[in-house]
Amino acid sequence: MSTATADIYRPGLEGIIACETAISSVEGRQGAGGLEYRGYPIEELAESATYLETAHLLLHGHLPTQAELDAFEDRIRAARAVPEPLIELLRNVPRHVHPMDTLRTSVSVLAHYDPDLAASPTDHAANVRKAERLIGQMATAIAYRERIERGLPLLAPRDDLDHAANFLYMVNGEVPSETKRKAFDVSLVLYAEHELNASTFAARVTVSTLSDLHSGIVSAIGTLKGPLHGGANEEAWKVLEQVGDPDKAHAWITAALGRKERIMGFGHRVYKTGDPRARILKRYCQQIAHEAGEDRWERIAEPIEREVTAQKHLPPNVDWPSARLYHYLGLQIHIYTPIFAMARVAGWAAHVIEQLDHNRLMRPRARYIGQPSRDVEPIEARG
Ligand code: ACO
Repeated sequence: MSTATADIYRPGLEGIIACETAISSVEGRQGAGGLEYRGYPIEELAESATYLETAHLLLHGHLPTQAELDAFEDRIRAARAVPEPLIELLRNVPRHVHPMDTLRTSVSVLAHYDPDLAASPTDHAANVRKAERLIGQMATAIAYRERIERGLPLLAPRDDLDHAANFLYMVNGEVPSETKRKAFDVSLVLYAEHELNASTFAARVTVSTLSDLHSGIVSAIGTLKGPLHGGANEEAWKVLEQVGDPDKAHAWITAALGRKERIMGFGHRVYKTGDPRARILKRYCQQIAHEAGEDRWERIAEPIEREVTAQKHLPPNVDWPSARLYHYLGLQIHIYTPIFAMARVAGWAAHVIEQLDHNRLMRPRARYIGQPSRDVEPIEARG
């Protein structure tokens, strides 16, 4: 057997092109860096398109006309109702279980009740229908579990509210102000897709065996959970709390970096000079904090950013401002990463569908660094 391919080795697959995609690019215009979904700059989408317009773009390949958007929103609204056995299960999962674990289980359960359960994994139209249903269902599953955690009655989805406002209403029991709705919707747009990040890669690997869309999304949720990926938005909030005072930022960051700790919410495998999503979301954080007359966390975040940039040349990533934004929206830390997942499901599903439309089994090689070839000794001779 040839060993030639095993000679190409990069730990963490850094810089390796593992697939072709038409869904998003982190190269930006003329390779100048920046995030684009199907050719549209993220800055313009955040400004001008809602999360559901963006999800339509990712799943269907183009920004919807008004008629297409109306029909798409109707289908998502219809999918907000989840099967009763899932609600029962969400009530019975032990209290201490992390919402990312209950979300992973929820998607598995939703697969059992999906009307396209029997469809071929490569049925493009069925996969799009499954993806659309998951966008509506995952938001409901997260909101219901959160209400159960808080010991509050469940709130039925409201047809008069859009995706962002309905989710905040179903969690908090209040219709958000327009500023809050827009800020949350922008965060969903920014989280919706990001090329071949770890969770998307996991989803594509899973379905490359001709497994089904729901299995790909379950793999992705398990992968997103880790603190080096989606779990960082929860950890970023803990950094803010631990620093606790703008005047303590210098000493806290110096000590943490001295202990070789990672400052969560900073650094990125691809964006070495700055994550464009962080710049966009920071403006919304500042606006909401200003309107609420509560700028304490903005005042703490600022010197932390300065210190990490000065001492380690690491700019913030999207999880840094999103942690503050979700705090301002009255959301508890443990649903920050599930919110990331409820937005990213559009991107994950688009990648799953793209993979299945042009499938090739993903099966890389490993370089063997263990013992040289040897004979098995009889058990009496081992020791
Ligand atoms: N805090 C402190 N040091 C860091 C950080 C950080 N957040 N990130 C990287 N470094 C340091 C490393 O310790 C290393 O230092 P060294 O050269 O002195 O040993 C150097 O920067 C390079 O680090 P790598 O691990 O090679 O960088 P990589 O590209 O693999 O890291 C990652 C990317 C995992 C995101 C990293 O920056 C990190 O751990 N950040 C914190 C977790 C985080 O915020 N994750 C969210 C990512 S964005 C997202 O998922 C939406």
